[in-house]
Amino acid sequence: MDWWRSAVVYQVYPRSFADSDGDGIGDLPGIRSRLDHLTDLGVDALWISPWYPSPMRDAGYDVSDFRDIEPAFGTLADADALVADAHRLGLRVLLDIVPNHTSDQHRWFQEALAAGPGSTERARYWFRDGRGRGGEEPPNDWVSQFGGPAWTRVTETDGRPGQWYLHLYTPGQPDLNWENPEVRTEMEDVLRFWFDRGVDGFRIDVAHGLAKAPGLPDRGGTPWPLPPDDEAAAGPDRRADDDLHPHWDRDAVHEIYRSWRRVADSYPQRRVFVAEAWVDRPRRLARYVRHDELHTAFNFDFLNTPWDDRLLRATIDRTIAALAEVGAPATWVLENHDVVRSVSRFARPQPDRHGRVWLEDLLELPCDPVVGLRRARAAAALMLALPGGAYIFQGQELGLPEVEDLAPSARRDPMWEQTGHARLGRDGCRVPVPWSGDRPPYGFSPPGAADPWLPQPADWADRSVEAESADPSSTLSLFRSALRLRREHPALGDGTLTWLASPEGTLAFSRAPGFACWVNVSATSVELPAGALDDSRVLLASSPLDTDRALPADTTIWVGT
Ligand code: NOJ
Repeated sequence: MDWWRSAVVYQVYPRSFADSDGDGIGDLPGIRSRLDHLTDLGVDALWISPWYPSPMRDAGYDVSDFRDIEPAFGTLADADALVADAHRLGLRVLLDIVPNHTSDQHRWFQEALAAGPGSTERARYWFRDGRGRGGEEPPNDWVSQFGGPAWTRVTETDGRPGQWYLHLYTPGQPDLNWENPEVRTEMEDVLRFWFDRGVDGFRIDVAHGLAKAPGLPDRGGTPWPLPPDDEAAAGPDRRADDDLHPHWDRDAVHEIYRSWRRVADSYPQRRVFVAEAWVDRPRRLARYVRHDELHTAFNFDFLNTPWDDRLLRATIDRTIAALAEVGAPATWVLENHDVVRSVSRFARPQPDRHGRVWLEDLLELPCDPVVGLRRARAAAALMLALPGGAYIFQGQELGLPEVEDLAPSARRDPMWEQTGHARLGRDGCRVPVPWSGDRPPYGFSPPGAADPWLPQPADWADRSVEAESADPSSTLSLFRSALRLRREHPALGDGTLTWLASPEGTLAFSRAPGFACWVNVSATSVELPAGALDDSRVLLASSPLDTDRALPADTTIWVGT
């Protein structure tokens, strides 16, 4: 059995996990010192967000050297020791590769600036002359994901304004030109560098962005993301391989991943990939995980689904059907370092359709944190019962909410400045983990340390790992129980599910052998059908049960049948 088909992977965001040296920034020795938390939790692997040298314009997703470690995080020796420790504990280690762009401080980009127009050094990136008489307008209408144009004009070595370069994210993250064979060779060599050091795989950043349309045409009104419903609306005539957008999800990315798969398969122990591809439509996502491409892909369709029984069931069905066609396992994900914490998302009235949720939009809605936590726990229990693998973002197992009231001066996400403060950004889910104690830094840093790089709330004492470990009803205890059952129960992990008839506002499915999951998504307690739980026993409940026949509001139960 391939471990990755049912793996639960824990995302470590190194800046915010554990700070060993007291500079207020998490580091690799810190991660090493806390690996027992992951084994106690019962996950199979950890994915570590970028740990490479970086000017940190985008929290490490701006890499200046793909073969080294950011000094604030540690050294290559620390990385080797961390991988060795993890392996000794039975944990696999996935790194984060960022192939769409480098930092503007990367040697290649500095060489490109120095070498000038038409050089082979510039051909590793997307340098173009501007439009307009003096070249003073960007080469096309593409926009940065963080706001503003996706192009920045450089000053040439003679001091005059010169060419423009493409950056789909910050100006500090120039896009690489994947039509250039040198880029392909270099990145495959980077994969080998880390595979040779023993890492088990990679999460691929912006996996859907590497290929750009020939000629870099204007985007015009092309929408992105496409709502999932559009696939049906387009009808059967629309070919699945349409290149709909000039820089997202283009067919040309797949040849890159076929080649990467050959690199991974050249190693004796299986090395794996997970794609970060925001493509919304499961049938498009399935193309990334065909048998000769990547192993898995994050299922953001699930993360973008409101707490609504009809929409959840549709997402689950769509996901399983699309992936079954290519023989790949599903993955389920509710949180990561780019999105609002599930507790806070579910604490608001739920929208009536799928879509990315932004913090500034949520702030306008009434908030019930108690309901948010109940739903987040129920959603996690649902996620861990579904067929396939799952991802947990650090702190999700503690039920941490989004920190919604960070002072403007504390915000670090480039999205905040680059959108002219229109978007609050992603800092609220990146606040350092509370480990112990009753006040900041809650054991994140040693005594006497500098303040954590993002401030922690004053009321997190009862959400620390220490506090929740001592409380059998805590979210941490729920996750530990769920993951222990997941390891023990033969029905869980990879496989299939069968829907069961269930009352309105609920979901129910069985998995063989001998398992069923019931989810009450509604706001009131639901009487279960007579006989539903006969001869069954409750293995797990995301909230306390009142009677043995009623499923409380916003609650998931696992039953042995
Ligand atoms: C996706 C990463 O998850 C996000 O944090 C980053 O800002 C962009 N890719 C750009 O690398």
